[in-house]
Order: sequence, then structure tokens, then C-alpha cells
Amino acid sequence: MAIEAGFLDELRARTPLFSVVGRRVKLARSGRNWKGCCPFHGEKTPSFYVYDDHFHCFGCGVHGDVISFVMQMEGKSFPEAVEELASAAGLDVPKDTRRSQEEVAHTRSLGEVLELVQEIWSSALYSPSGRAGLDYLLGRGLTRETIETFGLGWAGDGRGSLTTALAAKGVTPQMMAEAGLMRLDEDGRPKGELFWGRVTFPIRDRKGRLVSFGGRILGDGQPKYLNGPETALFSKRRLLFGLDRARVAVRAPRPKGTPATDLVVVEGYMDVIALHQAGFGGAVAPLGTALTPEQLEVLWQVDRAPVLCFDGDSAGRRAAARAAETALPLLKEERSLRLCLLPEGEDPDSLVRSRGAQAVGDLFASASPLSDVLFDLLAGGVSNPGPEERAALRRKLVEAAALIPEKTLAAEYRSTLLDRFFETFRRKKGGGSFGKGNSSPGGSGSRVPQDMQPSRVDPVRERQRILLALLLRYPELVPEVEEALCRLSLPEDYSELRALLLDMSAEGLLPEDGKTLLDELAGREEEALVRSVLTEGPLPLNLEEKDTSLAVAIRTQWWHFYGLLNFGQFRKEVEQEVARFAQDGADMAEWKRLQPRLEALAALRRGEIDE
Ligand code: UTP
Ligand code: MN
Repeated sequence: MAIEAGFLDELRARTPLFSVVGRRVKLARSGRNWKGCCPFHGEKTPSFYVYDDHFHCFGCGVHGDVISFVMQMEGKSFPEAVEELASAAGLDVPKDTRRSQEEVAHTRSLGEVLELVQEIWSSALYSPSGRAGLDYLLGRGLTRETIETFGLGWAGDGRGSLTTALAAKGVTPQMMAEAGLMRLDEDGRPKGELFWGRVTFPIRDRKGRLVSFGGRILGDGQPKYLNGPETALFSKRRLLFGLDRARVAVRAPRPKGTPATDLVVVEGYMDVIALHQAGFGGAVAPLGTALTPEQLEVLWQVDRAPVLCFDGDSAGRRAAARAAETALPLLKEERSLRLCLLPEGEDPDSLVRSRGAQAVGDLFASASPLSDVLFDLLAGGVSNPGPEERAALRRKLVEAAALIPEKTLAAEYRSTLLDRFFETFRRKKGGGSFGKGNSSPGGSGSRVPQDMQPSRVDPVRERQRILLALLLRYPELVPEVEEALCRLSLPEDYSELRALLLDMSAEGLLPEDGKTLLDELAGREEEALVRSVLTEGPLPLNLEEKDTSLAVAIRTQWWHFYGLLNFGQFRKEVEQEVARFAQDGADMAEWKRLQPRLEALAALRRGEIDE
């Protein structure tokens, strides 16, 4: 298929970029344009801007029009993206074969640019300038053969040397940018090489075609890994590092009696490589993001029940729960998952080295089916639940099972989960059940059991209340905390209030001043809820007047309570922000905006805030 240029102009004109992006990314007004969190590099504060006819991310440099947005977002080819947009706009795509050949030639040439770079970097690893890189890899236990097999390399002093080497072969900075090797300035022009002073990992698609690179800094430093940005060739959502090798290993014919090679999903480049070296050919890894539905689809094309490995700590369990949630709507009888929790503080790379291949093999073999671990993931941490917690957990279990579209399978999950629920939290007969026929041993029943006393405040809900109360009092905070606010998991009533604030903010209707906001909310159906949020308990600060230092104090408070609700996530977000500054250089205004978060994090770390 191929496409006339005139048609493409019409298609762009009829397909507002804002609405196509807005379906996938939460956007907020920014002057005449829109902005949101970049869907291509997993950031937490918005630096992804959508203009009339193009988008640009000031964080990772992605840039393009509506067609390239669909290509990059969905991993589609140019003609596929055009087809999708055209059918949504009710247009028929006219045919013309010339252009498609251009397209093909163009993508081929991007691949060729990458192959040239691969040659340069892999030979640099063995040159004097790459010595430190080679020593680093050998020091991590990789053999020369493994280094060679994976094509690891060294991106040397950068800042121009790759550009010069490629220019000699007729490659322009613009082509380097399209191949994901350059950072871009605000106008989308190439601005400096992306990789330097790092060992490099060629990233190949499942057919073995080179599509991008990852790079690791030697030793400590931030960011530890860099991955190439999304390009016409490289879509992070679809790609799994190592899949080209793993699918061959998993499908290879094997002698009768030998166990199958499992497809195993681990976290990082080095895990894949170390496992491969230890004889586990089926290891793959996403590129620093949570597993996407697209990646699950790709995995299931290779293995009906791939093994997912997670850290044994609480962050790992949360990641496992999130992966399970992603998988449930896609499960079928012949498409499942197995989960494997690793010992705390270890990853497969460190395990192979400390305990040997045999132990790691045993661990993978002991991976549990999703149906077995789902209950533990959802009920994790709940002990001795009261009626409200029991109800909430039961609802979660039932909802999880209902995510499975195949009815029979959904019913099986539902009964498995509920069986476990009743087994685990069977109501204790006798004590506790206040008001039921079975009177307590004490006889009279005149004393209200402790946990029935009305004064007990749920600390989580109290923190959620304070976060909302601060926003009601200081609505000017909303735009700044918006992304974090969206990620909080809130009970239904609070979640409605949040939606109200976000909607008002998106429509530019949120006053800066708390009093005005309360006046505006008076008489609306949310009024009672607003009142209860403001009065149900104290606010952390008694802040009446406003000056600059106060503004910082309020922000710090907000982030404190946010951090208390979700410390691991909060810490990660702040660290990523800091890493971004380290990489991109500081913009003072943004750096200032980060201060309250840094302060809150420091205070939480010092344990200044009572739990
Ligand atoms: P980890 O931080 O778990 O590191 O990142 P690791 O794989 O154990 O790395 P080593 O052993 O210290 O070398 C896991 C994966 O997350 C992505 C990379 O894909 C990495 O392999 N990542 C991590 C990034 O993209 N950026 C980072 O700064 C860190
Ligand atoms: Mn590691």
C-alpha cells in the first residue's frame, strides 16, 4: 500500500492531534497548547507538549505529527498508522506504490545507521579507549564469548565523535536523530549525542533486527541505564530484550526426556545476559517499564505460560500484582502466567553468581500458577480484618476474577479466590461478633469491644483526607501535584472529589484561592463531602495567611502525606526527577519546584513524620 502526499495533508487536517493523543494521555491546558506526561519515557511531571500539528517531549526528545504518534504509540508501520487514522476519520486511503517504496527504503536506512554504530561501538570495546568498559563487563563475570554474542560495546567520549565517524559514511545528524542516537533541542533539531561513557547493549527485535541501544554507566551514577527513545523502528511497549534468542531457545527441538526451556521474564539487561551465560536461553526483559499488554501478547506467541520473576520485597510484590492486573483481561485457557518471587535483595544475575545455575533452575521450576498467587497478591498484608476490610477484600477478589473475559475461566478464578478467602478469614466463632446470639464469655456484653469503638480513625483514610483538604484550601497546588494525585488509590467518595478538582483544573475553572473555591462549591451536591473533608479532623498546619515561605511549607506538607501513603513510589518518582536534572541540566524554575518534594523525602527518611 502507498499513499499520496495530498491525502496525507488532508488526513492530518481532519485528525486533530490533540484528540488522538488525548485518548491515550491525560492532557491539561498549557496556554494555547496542551501538555501531559510523556507516554514514551515514563515520566512523572509533564514535559510532553501537544501543539496543533506536532508533539514534542522536552524530557526525552520524541517529536512528530499525528501519524508518527500512532506509529510510535502502537508500534505500527507508516501505512498501518495511516489506515487506522483514515478509518477513524471516515476517509478511504488512495493507493500509490511509489511512496511505500520510499518508506521501506527509509526504514531500511535507519537500520543501516544502527548497524554502522554497532560496528563502531563493538570494536571500540576492544580498543585502548574501551578498556574500562571491557574490564567492567569482565568484572561482572561475563565471558568474552558472552560479550561477543550479545554484541556489547563501548560508546566512548561522545560529544561529537560518533557524529564525525558517521558523517564520513554519509549519515547526517538528522538521520542519527531519527535512529534514536541524538537528543533534540526545543525545535526538534539534533543536539548532542545520547550515549557516551557507557557500555552499550544492542537492542534487537524478535527477528533479530537492530532497533536501538541501551547503555550502562560504569559503576555508580545516574541514570544507571539509558535506553534509546521511541523511533520508527523501536517501540518500548512491544519489545522485550533478548526475545530474538529466547524464542529460538524455547522452540528448539530437544531430545526426548529433557525438560522444556521456559520463557522467563526478568528485570534487566544484565539478568538476561547472565542467565543466558548460565544456560537459561529463555530469558527476556522489558526495558525498564512495567510489563505491557503488548509485551504479554508477544510472550504468549512463544510460550503459553511464561514465568515472571519479581523481587521478594514489597516493591516486587506490588510489581507482581500490577503484572497480574495487566494479564487478567487477556487470560485464556491456553494463555496463562507463572510467577516466581526471588529472595529479597537478589536478582537473577546475582543469584546465578551466588548460588549457581542449579538453584536458579529450581527456583524457576517452582514458579506458581497465577491462580495460586493471585490471592496472596491481593490479600497481602491483610490480617485480622474487620467487616469493612473483609468486604473490601472480597470485592477486590470478585472484581479481579471478573476482569477475565472468558466466562468459564472467570468463574473458576472467582471460586478459587473466594474459597481461599473463606479458608483464610473464616469468622471466629464465639468472641468478637458483637450482637450476634453467641454471647461473649464475659456474659453481660456491656463492654463494647475495642475495635468497635467509633473513635478509631483509619490512618490511611486520614492521610487521604488531609491531601484533599490541603487542595481544597490551597487549590493553586492542584496543577503541580496533578500527576501524583491521579496515581493515588482512593476510596469512592474521595475519588469523586479528586475527579471534581481535576476536571475544574483541566477546564481552567479552578480558582487559585481556597475561599473562592468553597464559595463555588457551596450548594453543589459535593458540598457535604467537601465539608467533611475539611472538618473531620485537624489539618497538619494551621496556616491562615500566605507568604512565600508558607507556600513552600504547604507544598512540603502535601508531599509528606503523599509520601506517607506510598513511600516507595514517592521515593522512586523523586529520584527519577533528580536523575533527569542530572542528565538534562537544571532549569532553575523546575528545580525550585522540586524542592518541596526533596524536603518531604528527606524528612520522611529521617522519620520526622509520625506514621
Ligand atoms: P535495575 O536497576 O534493577 O538494575 O534495572 P539491574 O538490571 O540489576 O542492573 P545492574 O545489575 O545494576 O547492572 C533493571 C532494568 O531497568 C532499566 C534497565 O532496562 C535495567 O536493565 N533501567 C534501570 C533503566 O532503564 N534506567 C535506569 O536508570 C535503571
Ligand atoms: Mn543487577
